[in-house]
Amino acid sequence: MRLEKYLADCGIGTRSQCKTYIRQGLIKVDGAVIKNGAIKVRGTEKISFQDKSISLQKNLYFMFHKPAGCICATKDEDGKTVLDYFPSSLAGKLLIAGRLDKDTEGLLFLTDNGAFIHQLMSPKKHVEKTYYFEAAGRLLEDAVQRVAEGIDIGDELPTKPGKLQNIQTIGQEAFSGLLTIKEGRYHQVKRMIKTLGGKVFYLKRISIGGINLDEALSPGEYRPLTEEELQMLGTGSVK
Ligand code: URA
Repeated sequence: MRLEKYLADCGIGTRSQCKTYIRQGLIKVDGAVIKNGAIKVRGTEKISFQDKSISLQKNLYFMFHKPAGCICATKDEDGKTVLDYFPSSLAGKLLIAGRLDKDTEGLLFLTDNGAFIHQLMSPKKHVEKTYYFEAAGRLLEDAVQRVAEGIDIGDELPTKPGKLQNIQTIGQEAFSGLLTIKEGRYHQVKRMIKTLGGKVFYLKRISIGGINLDEALSPGEYRPLTEEELQMLGTGSVK
């Protein structure tokens, strides 16, 4: 694999940070400074960063089915956090990839690899996240079109084009649907649906970057991400 990707997989930084380290001459392969990140390495070489030997670590990657009622933080004085669902030996190592509101359920990734989180959650990466929602009210007729074009939800910029689909009515005064977005602004789904005529009363994230929440996981359960899922998320896996 390319040297710059190998370095990122070792966890020393994002791909672009690694390119900078290479340009700065901080990386040696078998004792020689290498300034070309495109060279191929097999992992059998002696590779160092600032003269400290580095190697592929075994990282931890989990898919978690977040239940409603817990928060995405490491500590909460009063209530439960997502880390309370993991044994303390793991919880101490894990970082939460992105945030879901306390009352939102669904797919969350946890890992000890900060570069993975950056890759997945940075707005620049445009990773698709799909939410199932139920909302009170009546959806504007042109809602699908508006979401596709991007809508003003009171921020400096309109939302990036998204996808609204599978709209179903629930009785006279409520509706459900799937909303796919490529950003992760504060309360984004709730604010978008509000702009389109509804008040969300149930929200569940069902996929990130093409990885669906495993239906075998009940709320509060987790499992390791598979090699295939990691490849899909573009980690080039380092399990
Ligand atoms: N959008 C929201 O409004 N809340 C979430 O938890 C996630 C996305």
